[in-house]
Amino acid sequence: MEEPELTDKEFAKFRDLIYQLTGIVINEGKRQLVLSRLTKRLRMHGLSSFSEYYELVTNAGDDEEQSAFINSITTNKTDFFREPHHFEYIARELVPALAQSARRGERKPMLRVWHAGCSTGEEPYTLGVTLSEAFANHSEWDWRQLASDIDTNVLAHAERGIYDESRTDTIPRDLLRKYFLRGSGEREGSYKVKRELQEHLTFRQVNLLEPSWPMRPDTKFDIIFCRNVVIYFDKPTQKRLFERFASRLQPGGLLFIGHSESLLGISNAFDACGQTIYRLTGNERLVEKAA
Ligand SMILES: C[S@@+](CC[C@H](N)C(=O)[O-])C[C@H]1O[C@@H](n2cnc3c(N)ncnc32)[C@H](O)[C@@H]1O
Repeated sequence: MEEPELTDKEFAKFRDLIYQLTGIVINEGKRQLVLSRLTKRLRMHGLSSFSEYYELVTNAGDDEEQSAFINSITTNKTDFFREPHHFEYIARELVPALAQSARRGERKPMLRVWHAGCSTGEEPYTLGVTLSEAFANHSEWDWRQLASDIDTNVLAHAERGIYDESRTDTIPRDLLRKYFLRGSGEREGSYKVKRELQEHLTFRQVNLLEPSWPMRPDTKFDIIFCRNVVIYFDKPTQKRLFERFASRLQPGGLLFIGHSESLLGISNAFDACGQTIYRLTGNERLVEKAA
C-alpha cells in the first residue's frame, strides 16, 4: 500500500488542532513523528489521505476518534523512581516533618497529592512505595493520590498496574518484592502492583487545558507533581497552568516539576525550595522542619 503524503497545509492543520486540543506544541522537527503516528490511524480506518482523517477527527460527535488521535500524539516516557531526589526529599525531609507537626496537633494526619500527567503510572506508584515506607509507623495517616492524564490508553495501563519485568529495573529489589506480585503462568515476566498501593489511588482523565477540571472547586492538594509535562507546552500555556496549580494548593503546598523545566519567568506564585521543588509563596509552610 502506498504511503499517503502529508502536505504542508495538512501538517499545519493537524499542528493547530493538536495545540488547540492539548496545548502540545508541534514544531517542524516533529513532522516525521506526526506522519508515522497518524499514518497508523489512517490505515486503521482504511483512509487514503490525511485530509480525510482530519475530517474524521474534527467531525463533531466522534469523541472516540478524537481521543485515539490525542493518544497517538502524546509522549509518555516515564520510569519508576525517575528523578529520585524528589522521593528522597519526601521520605527524608517532608514526611518526618509532617509526622512531627501532626503529633503536636498542628495539622491533621492527612496528605493529598495530585499527579498531573501520570502517564502509565510509574510516578504515582513510586510515590506510593515511598509514602508507605515513610509512614510505616504512622498508621493514623490518611494519604491519597489522584493520578490523571489526558491519554486514556496510558491511564488504563496505570490503573491495571501491570508492568513488564524490564520496566522494574529501577525499583530496589526489596521494594519490588514487598509491593509487587510476580506474575506466573500467562503473566510470567510481569509484575503487578499490590492492592495496598492501589487503594490510595484514584485515576481520572484530566485534560490540563480544559477550562474547568473535574475535581470539586474546593479540592486542594498538599503536593502537585507535574513532571515532564509542560516541556511540551509554550510559555503562555505554562503560565496559565501554574497559576491554576497555585490556586489548587494548600497554603505552603509543594509543586514538583521535571528536570528540564523551570518556573523562572513563568510564575511568581512559588519559591524554590529544592532541585525542581517549589513551595507556594507566602509565610505558611506545610510543616516547619523537623527538630
Ligand atoms: C513524558 S510523560 C511524564 C510522565 C511522568 N510525570 C514522569 O515524569 O515520568 C507526559 C505526560 O503528560 C501527558 N499530557 C500531555 N498533555 C496533556 C494535557 N493537556 N493534559 C493532561 N496530560 C497531558 C501525556 O499524555 C503524558 O502521559
